[in-house]
Amino acid sequence: MAGTQQPEVNIGLVGHVDHGKTTLVQALSGSWTDQHSEEMKRGISIRLGYADATFRECPDRDEPERYTVEEECPDGTESEPLRTVSFVDAPGHETLMATMLSGASLMDGAVLVVSANEPVPQPQTEEHLMALDIIGIENIVIAQNKIDLVDSDQARRNYEQIQEFVEGTVAEDAPVVPVSAGQEVNMDLLIQAVEEEIPTPERDPDADARMHVARSFDINKPGTTASDLAGGVLGGSLVEGELESGQEIEIRPGREVEEGGQTEYVPIETTIRSLQAGGETVDSATPGGLLGVGTGLDPALTKGDALAGRMAGLPGSLPPTWQQFTMDVDLLERVVGTDGGEVEEISTGEPLMMTVGTATTVGAVTSAREGECEVNLKRPVTADPGAKIAINRRIGARWRLIGLGTLQE
Ligand code: GTP
Repeated sequence: MAGTQQPEVNIGLVGHVDHGKTTLVQALSGSWTDQHSEEMKRGISIRLGYADATFRECPDRDEPERYTVEEECPDGTESEPLRTVSFVDAPGHETLMATMLSGASLMDGAVLVVSANEPVPQPQTEEHLMALDIIGIENIVIAQNKIDLVDSDQARRNYEQIQEFVEGTVAEDAPVVPVSAGQEVNMDLLIQAVEEEIPTPERDPDADARMHVARSFDINKPGTTASDLAGGVLGGSLVEGELESGQEIEIRPGREVEEGGQTEYVPIETTIRSLQAGGETVDSATPGGLLGVGTGLDPALTKGDALAGRMAGLPGSLPPTWQQFTMDVDLLERVVGTDGGEVEEISTGEPLMMTVGTATTVGAVTSAREGECEVNLKRPVTADPGAKIAINRRIGARWRLIGLGTLQE
C-alpha cells in the first residue's frame, strides 16, 4: 500500500509566486496535506510546506504512460509503488527568501516551476534558481506549467526563454517538461523526469543521526489537565542516520536561559516517545521527508517554534555549537533580484543574516579578509564544519542573498 512507505528523498518545489507549485503538488499527491499529525502538519506547511507523493508504475505500459500516482492502472490491475518522495514547498513571496533557504538545506533535488504564460525569468524564478545554484542542488527538473493557457508558438518561445535563462547555471542540463498542473497534463512525463534526474541519495546507515528542527509545538488543547498533557513535539527532517522510538536524544544549542542579563543556551535531553513519518506512526525513522518527534519535554519548552533551528541527535554525537565562527565566503557577482547591483565585499563591523541548516541567525562581522570572514553571532548555531551557510546582507528594507559561506573547522 502507498501509505506504508516512508519518503526517502526530499524534493524542493521552487519558483515564482502563483506559477503553480501548490497545484502541482496537489496533482501529484492527491492532497496537499493532512496525512500527517494534524497540528504538526498544519504548522509546518505554513513555514515549509511538505507533502508526500508515492510514484507508481503500471509495468505493462510503455514510457512515459507507465508512470502514475494512481493505485489502479487503466486496465484495472494494481500499479506498483516505485518510491515515496516528499515535496518541500518553498514559499514564492520575496520576503520569505530565508525560509526558502532553510528549506534548501533539506532538499536533495528540486522541481523549478515556470509559468508558460509569463516572460522568463520572473524575480523569484531567478532568486530561487540562484539559491539552488549556490547551495549546490544539482538535480533539477523544470516544469513548464500552465501550457493549457498558451498556443504552441507561445509555448516554444517560452521554452527558448527558459533555455536561455538557465544557460551557465546549475540547471543548464535540466529537462524542461511541459505540463498543466491544473489540467493534470503530462504528469507521467514529469514523474519520469523526476525518477531519472533526482535519485535517492546514498545514505550511510552508520552515520550519527542529524535532525534539523524546523518547527516545534505544544499540541495540547487549551484546558488539558496536567495528567493528560502530551509532551512537546519537534518537526523537521532527518538528514542522516536513524532515530528510534524510546531513544534518548539531545537538542542543541538547546533552550534559551536568561541569567544576570546574559542569555545562555543549555542543551536539552529527552526521550523519543513517538515518531511520525510518511503519515504513519513508526518505530524508527530514516532520512527523507518530514519527521515528527513526540518527546517527554514540557510542552512549554517547544511551544511556538521555541526550538526551531536546533539540531537533534543522540547524546554526545552532535557537532559543535558556535557562538562565533570563521567561514569561507563565495560572493555572488550581483545581488539577486530585479534591481540587483554589484555585490560589494563584506566589511568588518557589518551585520549579516545567515542561514545554517534550519537555523537563521544574525551576526556582526568581526574580521573580514579576502575570501573569508569571522562573525560573532547573536544566537549560536549547532553545525558540522563544512556546513553551507546562506549569507544575506541588508539592502534597503530587506535581507538579500549575497553569497554562500562554508563553515571552517
Ligand atoms: P505560491 O504558493 O503563492 O507561491 O503559489 P503557487 O506557485 O503555489 O501557485 P498555485 O498552485 O497556488 O497556483 C496559482 C494559480 O494558478 C491558481 O489560481 C491555480 O489554479 C492556477 N494554476 C496552477 N496551475 C495551472 C495550470 O496548469 N493551468 C492553469 N490554467 N492554471 C493553473
